[in-house]
Amino acid sequence: MLRLPGDKSISHRAALLAALARGHSHLRNFSSSADCQATLRCLKQLGVQIEKNETDIQIKGAGLEGLSASQEPLDCGNSGTTMRLLAGVLAGQAFATELIGDESLQSRPMNRVIEPLELMGARISSNQGRAPLRIIGRQPLHALSYEMPVASAQVKSCILLAGLYAGGRTEVIEEFGITRDHTERLLKWFGVPLKTRTERRARKLLQVHALESPARRLRARETNIPGDISSAAYFFAAAALLPGSSLEIRDVGFNPTRFKIVPTLKTLGAQLRVDELREECNELLATVYVNGSDCLRPTATDRPLTFDGSIIPQLIDELPLLAVVGTQVEGGIIIREAAELRVKESDRISATVVNLRAMGADVEEYEDGLRVAGRTQLRGAKLDSCGDHRIVMAFTIAALLADGESEIAGAEAVAVSFPEFFQLLESIVER
Ligand code: S3P
Repeated sequence: MLRLPGDKSISHRAALLAALARGHSHLRNFSSSADCQATLRCLKQLGVQIEKNETDIQIKGAGLEGLSASQEPLDCGNSGTTMRLLAGVLAGQAFATELIGDESLQSRPMNRVIEPLELMGARISSNQGRAPLRIIGRQPLHALSYEMPVASAQVKSCILLAGLYAGGRTEVIEEFGITRDHTERLLKWFGVPLKTRTERRARKLLQVHALESPARRLRARETNIPGDISSAAYFFAAAALLPGSSLEIRDVGFNPTRFKIVPTLKTLGAQLRVDELREECNELLATVYVNGSDCLRPTATDRPLTFDGSIIPQLIDELPLLAVVGTQVEGGIIIREAAELRVKESDRISATVVNLRAMGADVEEYEDGLRVAGRTQLRGAKLDSCGDHRIVMAFTIAALLADGESEIAGAEAVAVSFPEFFQLLESIVER
């Protein structure tokens, strides 16, 4: 039986909102990831008082108007979520802030947040749309109704956080239910009256998230953070693909915008069962049971199974792992319309293709995805993490399935989201 450290996406948001609330918030099972530690460090630099006791975090909220300018740049490390969400908050401050990050983060696209924040009146300079970002805040920000050009929870969250500082109504419009909704859930949990309505336009079902002005007070909350389902995914896959395995993971986040890896693995023929589904702190969690089999036979009839369209943003962080799993599925799998993978912590399409080929898999690379042939006996190889935590974990699972030894260069990147990964895996894998 395993319990996992707190969800990374929820931890970032809970820390940010607790910092903007009035009073003491207590966050339990806060993520141990380097990414979330970066968010805490940045908040401290903005004058927020934070105390840590292992996985419990106490935050003395500064209130919406209580942040103070940092003389030094805020270092977001490898964390796109830290940079993009903080940018929304900083756009509404009466001071200027510089946001920096590591080499990977400084190469990632930031125009997707710069454009809407400039429409709201912030002034932002960047290195041709990339970090470092210098944000000169404005008070109050302009109202904005923004239809998102990319399916991104980080962009949606950035605008909603800026909306807390807007002089009028802030609206974010996106396709229904395709990006994670933790910001919306947590804003409500912290007492902000966010409203979401659905609308049909042309042939699309849209969601409009609206923050009325003024939405000017957050109240401090005790918040329990569920286990990270994106971390659990590696254990689901390992247990499902190693014959004779049986694994139980308790208290794992089961938010509908995040859990698609479970039905996806089931469609591919894996044996998973979900129980004890319940709600806590406006999020869902569950216990997941997994049993192993030697080869996955999809329940669907069309082969190879294709993943594209609206499932892609819902599985975005699990796609490299899904490609690894695909090598064990009868008929293989295809992933398309996933070009966003090229601008994650690494180019995850290329990193996945190169490493799978090194292990002897038959893979075709597309601009927006890949195809893997199924039922391949992978062989141990020298692999390259490309400095990307999800590539490390996906290929550790591939290495467990392979004949012979594998070596992953740069495996320390795992700490970006899941420092305990290797230790926990060792504790459950029988040799
Ligand atoms: C995240 C959203 C996703 C995801 C990232 C975390 C978040 O990015 O890939 O790991 O916490 O909002 P995008 O929203 O840019 O797709």
